[in-house]
Amino acid sequence: MADLAVRLASLELRNPLLSASGTFGHGLEMQYLSPPERLGGLVSKTVSLLPRPGNKNPRIFETEAGFLNSIGLENRGIESYLASTLPEVATADCVIFTNIGGEREADFVELARILDERDEVDALELNLSCPNVQGGKLPFGTDPKTAESVLREVRKVTKKPLFAKLSPNVTRISDMARAVEAGGADGVTAVNTLLGMAVDWRKRAWRLATKQGGYSGVGIKPVALRCAWECAQAVDIPVIGCGGIRSAEDVLEYLAVGCTAVQVGTASFSDPALLGRLAGEVSELLDAAGIDSVCELIDCMERPLPASV
Ligand SMILES: Cc1cc2nc3c(=O)[nH]c(=O)nc-3n(C[C@H](O)[C@H](O)[C@H](O)COP(=O)(O)O)c2cc1C
Repeated sequence: MADLAVRLASLELRNPLLSASGTFGHGLEMQYLSPPERLGGLVSKTVSLLPRPGNKNPRIFETEAGFLNSIGLENRGIESYLASTLPEVATADCVIFTNIGGEREADFVELARILDERDEVDALELNLSCPNVQGGKLPFGTDPKTAESVLREVRKVTKKPLFAKLSPNVTRISDMARAVEAGGADGVTAVNTLLGMAVDWRKRAWRLATKQGGYSGVGIKPVALRCAWECAQAVDIPVIGCGGIRSAEDVLEYLAVGCTAVQVGTASFSDPALLGRLAGEVSELLDAAGIDSVCELIDCMERPLPASV
């Protein structure tokens, strides 16, 4: 059996398979279908300082090739996360990431300071796609200087590994990746959802109450794969690929372009057992190709093929 273990910054993962924020509950809701001991790690839904009610309905629309969502980062806030969610998730036998978000730089800093005191949390993922109230509603994730500053300030209050989750809705995602690396990120997650829209022309109705929403799932894979590759080319810190993954083949494609790990999001809605099966399926593909360790595949696109292939 091929060795699936990867090192992601200072974290040792049993395999490169993570849940994507907001698509897997806080992790344990799916444990009977995708047991945590078969995963590399669980990523929480975005947690904010105060509870957020989220956006009005309709806020999910299934397109021909993926989802549009405008959930609006609904969550019960950090107090509830610490009191009821974290103690439960911490029993999971895999690496625990808490994904944090805020409308001001100070929100990210405060959340990181609070979570730094909790040993149950192995790493933080910063959702830089949150609207930036200070910066005129543009997300933190579209301005390199703002993103770098968030990382720099968060870095001052925690030693936990920091992963900056980037938005694909920018002209050059490599600039964003370099900025968060300069700010002290230990890794980059690429990517969050693409901005999208759907309408019903007969009813003259928007499919989402917010008109625009985040597009995810199978349709975004080529865009997300290109983004992950651009990030991997641009920085020395590890990249977690995310976008449209629904098979072991998809996982290995992301590793081949330079990712160290991947996250599975939208695919878990139609197949909540997928994440739990993927490690076995990845192993089978590697065994069939005569590859001993998944690490051999990371960033292999420009390397010559081994004789066995
Ligand atoms: C319903 C839904 C809710 C999401 N909520 C969050 C969230 O709370 N925080 C976050 O960083 N990303 C969130 N995302 C984005 C996913 O984590 C992921 O980056 C994106 O969906 C692309 O991956 P996929 O194509 O595998 O779904 C959400 C996505 C969906 C579909």
